[in-house]
Amino acid sequence: MPALFDFESARKELSKKPLPRHIAVIMDGNGRWAKERGLPRVAGHHEGVKSVKAIVEGCGELGVEVLTLYAFSHENWNRPTWEVSALMKLLMRTIHNEINNLDANGVRVRTIGQIDRLPPATLKQVKHAIEVTRRNTGLVLCLALSYGGRIEILEAARRALHEKMTPNRLDEATFSSLLDTAGLPDPDLVIRTSGEHRISNFLLWQIAYSEIYVTPTYWPDFRKKELVDAILDYQTRERRFGLVSEQVKKKKSK
Ligand code: FPP
Repeated sequence: MPALFDFESARKELSKKPLPRHIAVIMDGNGRWAKERGLPRVAGHHEGVKSVKAIVEGCGELGVEVLTLYAFSHENWNRPTWEVSALMKLLMRTIHNEINNLDANGVRVRTIGQIDRLPPATLKQVKHAIEVTRRNTGLVLCLALSYGGRIEILEAARRALHEKMTPNRLDEATFSSLLDTAGLPDPDLVIRTSGEHRISNFLLWQIAYSEIYVTPTYWPDFRKKELVDAILDYQTRERRFGLVSEQVKKKKSK
């Protein structure tokens, strides 16, 4: 039997160095997890929900400010109808089952993406979760639903034009405020499970200086221990933001 993972010790270890304020996750590998076990794809999504719960809980306990989960992409609408429908039902049911627990733990739910494309019953649950948790001050759980980075940027450009913004008024901060992620810090750490080295249209503007962590672990197997491993790896990185190492060290010592 594998040794039990000691989250408390891991938390102490992680507290020695700065934590990522915002972690964004591309949850991938549900289908392959199921296939390897001779199960239908949806079984992978169901097991993936358990990982969602573990990672939301872990981020809350560690004091991460924002967790963004890529739950359904703009491109995912093109999957077989039965899978889209199963995912929408699972999303609706999971939010329904978890809302009290999320609320009790101070989690604030928000979304990015074109949520009006969701089926009415799913949309209702999502809006309910946003409304119920809107005053909470703990972890911000940002669900990317019907989300695509290019569309988001395009929509922001459209908004700028619509507001008749003059070219000299449109700087990076103003443009950021027109995106779905307005008000959130950019992700410090992007995690992608299942080994693929791709961004898949996720937060294209916001990840300009994010650290990227790719793990071969499939999403249904990604739990608190794997989260801790990802953050420990992040804490070894030197974030230079285009500067040279000596400049970064000088800045830190000030
Ligand atoms: C990617 O695996 C996963 C998804 C497209 C859906 C993720 C959704 C969940 C984990 C459940 C609902 C989420 C919440 C927030 C309650 P894949 O199907 O692309 O796997 P594959 O690449 O192995 O086929």
